[in-house]
Amino acid sequence: MNTATAHETRKLIVIIGFMGSGKTTVAREVARLLNCRAVDLDELISQRENLSPGEIIEQSGEDEFRRIETETLSQVMNEEFGDSHARIVALGGGTWTLQRNRDLINEHMGTTIWLDAPFDLCWQRIQTGGEGRPLARDEAQARMLYAQRRSQYALAELQLQIGRNQSLAETCVEIVETLRTRNR
Ligand code: S3P
Repeated sequence: MNTATAHETRKLIVIIGFMGSGKTTVAREVARLLNCRAVDLDELISQRENLSPGEIIEQSGEDEFRRIETETLSQVMNEEFGDSHARIVALGGGTWTLQRNRDLINEHMGTTIWLDAPFDLCWQRIQTGGEGRPLARDEAQARMLYAQRRSQYALAELQLQIGRNQSLAETCVEIVETLRTRNR
């Protein structure tokens, strides 16, 4: 496959989707294909706070986590790019659901891509992932959140159906090709 070079894409690419949809992994692989940087918002929050998002929610509540999340997102959005390289940002599952975060991303002309994975696939990964996800403690809670959020995820610019039988490589190639086509 011809890999796209970073300057062929718009600078900021934002990967959104439910917990377990594969945001972090996809962002890393797309960044590798585009030869640019991947940023994982949850990872940055963990580094800054010395606590994982799940631990922050457990200890200080969801509102406090959302405050930190928006602050960190704002920093990521305002960082200088320095060169012509694109940057791929993987959000947490709830980041895009807040209007203030969507505004921040839109202000910075981010191209948003929704990894639309079926609930069962997300739930299977949530269960086996080992990360503490206090907002998806049981299947009923996760399913409700998943249903509530779909209309907000649908506000993304691009929607990518993630199938159980689709490989990571296939997903990422599809993203890169879509980005290239759109930037022609
Ligand atoms: C959350 C998803 C998590 C993390 C936090 C809240 C959510 O990220 O940000 O636990 O509200 O969906 P992942 O989507 O990477 O699991």
